[in-house]
Amino acid sequence: MKEMKFEFEYEVYDDISQLAEQDAWLLTEARVVTDQAYAPYSNFHVGAVAILENGEIVAGTNQENASYPVGICAERVLLGSVATLHPNVAVKSIAISYNSEEVKSDHPISPCGMCRQALLEYETRLKQPIRLILGGMEGKVYIIKTAMQLLPFAFTKSELI
Ligand code: THU
Repeated sequence: MKEMKFEFEYEVYDDISQLAEQDAWLLTEARVVTDQAYAPYSNFHVGAVAILENGEIVAGTNQENASYPVGICAERVLLGSVATLHPNVAVKSIAISYNSEEVKSDHPISPCGMCRQALLEYETRLKQPIRLILGGMEGKVYIIKTAMQLLPFAFTKSELI
């Protein structure tokens, strides 16, 4: 028997003012775009904004539904738009933020399990890591080098072919 360990490094910043200019701009856009979320059931408004390899900017927000499971997270709305509007262009970084009337947006949130799987598929598809910039409307910001790190032991395409 051998015990294995999984660990990864990520960056922690005290607030947005410590970020590099482009990262701060992207996170600001993610904060702003939370206004476009449709979240009448959770009141949890998520914004995700990507910068692509070619410099294009694409945004996504969560879109809920009266039939709750129909709702879709900001990250997957974003990836669908990127794939459709800019086919075969890799995603460099995605900033994710949130706003809510019910909880304070003062710390980073990270993508749900389903979105982690979707982000990993996109990285694999375009053969390029996606950096994640995670932060609330205020407070600490995390930067993760590749979405893959958020999903150890992932099930991937390589199992199917
Ligand atoms: N949500 C996202 O859009 N992204 C996340 O990373 C976490 C959760 C949405 C789904 C749902 O509309 C609301 O936030 C509350 O779960």
